[in-house]
This record gives sequence, C-alpha cells and structure tokens, in this order.
Amino acid sequence: MKTIEWKNGKVILIDQTKLPLKEEYIVTDDYQRVAEAIKILSVRGAPAIGVAAAYAVALAAMKSQAKSTKDFLDELGEAIKLIGATRPTAVNLFWALERMKEKASANSHLAVSRLKRVLKEEADLIAAEELEMSKKMGDYGAELIADGDNVLTHCNAGALATVDYGTALAVIRSAHNQGKKIHVYADETRPLLQGARLTTWELMRENIPVTLICDNMAGHFMSLGKVDKIVVGADRVAANGDIANKIGTYSVAVLAKEHNIPFYVAVPVTTIDISIPDGSHIPIEERESHEVTGFGGSQVATEGVTVANPAFDVTPNRYITAIITDKGVLKPPYDKAIARLF
Ligand code: MRU
Repeated sequence: MKTIEWKNGKVILIDQTKLPLKEEYIVTDDYQRVAEAIKILSVRGAPAIGVAAAYAVALAAMKSQAKSTKDFLDELGEAIKLIGATRPTAVNLFWALERMKEKASANSHLAVSRLKRVLKEEADLIAAEELEMSKKMGDYGAELIADGDNVLTHCNAGALATVDYGTALAVIRSAHNQGKKIHVYADETRPLLQGARLTTWELMRENIPVTLICDNMAGHFMSLGKVDKIVVGADRVAANGDIANKIGTYSVAVLAKEHNIPFYVAVPVTTIDISIPDGSHIPIEERESHEVTGFGGSQVATEGVTVANPAFDVTPNRYITAIITDKGVLKPPYDKAIARLF
C-alpha cells in the first residue's frame, strides 16, 4: 500500500480521515486540494506531509500557464507559500518545499516546459528517498527489539505517516519480519484517534498482534510490567535531540523513565531541524476546539466550554534512550551525535 502516489498527472492520497471505516482515495491535479488535504489531515504524519507538499508543488508547476521562467517562478512561489501555511510543526513540510524551490532556482535557465519535468522528477526522488529511509530505520531499529517484546506506540508513525513502511512502525515491521514475536500496545491518541483508527488498521492488515488502549491506560500497563519498550515518531527534532510529537508523547516518555522502560524515537534525517537549538523553538500547532468537544460527529462537551487543543508536545532529550534514524542509532549526548550527521 502506498500512502501517496503520482499517476497520470494526478496525485493519489489515501483519505486518512475516512479510515478505518472506508478506504477512499483523493485523486487530484489541483495543488490547492493537496494543501487542503494536509490541513484537514487526509494526509498526515511528518514524512508523508513532506512528500505530499513536494507533489503539490509539482502539480502547481504542471498547471502553470506561465510563458516566461520569471512568471513561472513567481507563480510557484505563491503556491509554495500556500502549501507552507497548512501545518506548522512537521519540519518535513518546510524541508520539502525548500528543496523544490531550490531545484527550481537552480534550473531557472531552462524553458518552462523542461522545468516542469525537472520538478516532477524531484518530487518523485523525494518520495523514493523517504521510502528508502523508512526501510533503513526499520533495519537499524529492529536491532533494539527483542523476541517477545511488548512495544507501546503513540499516534500513527506507520506506512500511513510516510510513503510506506513507517518510522516507529518500520521498526516494529522489521522486527516482526525477522521472526521476532512482537506485541504492540497502541495508544488511541485523542483527540483525532490516529492510534485507534490508523495504527490498528495497519498492524491488523499485516497480522502484527496489537492491543488498543486509551491514552490514560499507558501508565497502568507500564506499572504492571507489561511494556518492554516504547517507540514513537516525531514531527521535528531540535539540534539538541528534544523532539516534538503528537500530544501525549511527553507524558508517555516521563512515565517510561519512572518505570525504566527504554523510550525510542524513530525519524528520518529529514525530520531533524538543526536550525533550532532546542525544543522550545518548535512551533506547536493549535487546532480547532470542535476536535476536543466532539466525538464521531456528535458533541460530547458542555456547549460553550473553553478548549485548548495543542496537536503536539515537546519531549526533552533527557527522556529519550536513543533516536533511530536512517543513518544509524543516535545515543546521548544528542547535540554531538546530531552534529556529526550534518
Ligand atoms: O497530527 P498528525 O497525525 O500529523 O501527527 C503525526 C504524529 O505525531 C507522528 O507521530 C509523527 O508525524 C511522526 S510520523 C512518522
């Protein structure tokens, strides 16, 4: 299964707002539709957002009627601005947009028709590289998982959050494929239930044993000794190894430390942002209140209540046992380990 694909001049996205009840696809040649899909989480997860953004730029390029390269680049700049305004936390979005922009500038001597092809090829390359990175993370991370482990994960950092295979779930998939008997605890991940809807769907399709728990049950299972390891993804890693991931990750990490459970973060290097020194510089997306007050389309909270809805939280590096990347497993001190990668 591919989360994102380009076929016959169109982008195809599995609509993650519909899963697991319906398997529907968004098929579009309109970059604004892809931007909207990112905003409403039809496509989500840091690496998938980056790849979708790159393809959105390619769509904008293909649709352009500009005759001169200058007009073409101006139009592209407008499209990039709109796509970049969708979600602020996952750095992969800005990384992919910057790479597409640089590719366009570096080839500005070409005719518009040729430049369009170059940009589509660059988006294909970004997608292929992401998939390759997922596989490598899986291989490196699987070494940390033992036969018989119970692994807890939060949100969905799987095939659906990447082009395919995943980040945290890549580690679990690779361990499972090596014949290790793994059992996964999936936090449901309120308010949008990526764990309940997406992680369970992915794992059950591959017969990887999974137990769904509410977010507030994680500590209980840790205290009973039922969790051996924790593996999560991240939307951004700062230069010192602090990470931002789905809201609730911080609580899981603190509980893991209390119970001496290894807490691993799996990310492609495209999720590392060396321009920011620590997690306090990561912009945290605030989403609409109805995601918290409602459930399955019906209101559950008292009408008019004040709501806070940060989509992510920051886990300081001291809670992280190791960061699994496509270039190997990083151990503290993370500032030094990360600096060596760039
Ligand atoms: O709001 P979402 O669903 O895009 O949040 C996704 C996460 O928090 C993932 O854990 C993160 O992007 C890593 S995905 C490989």
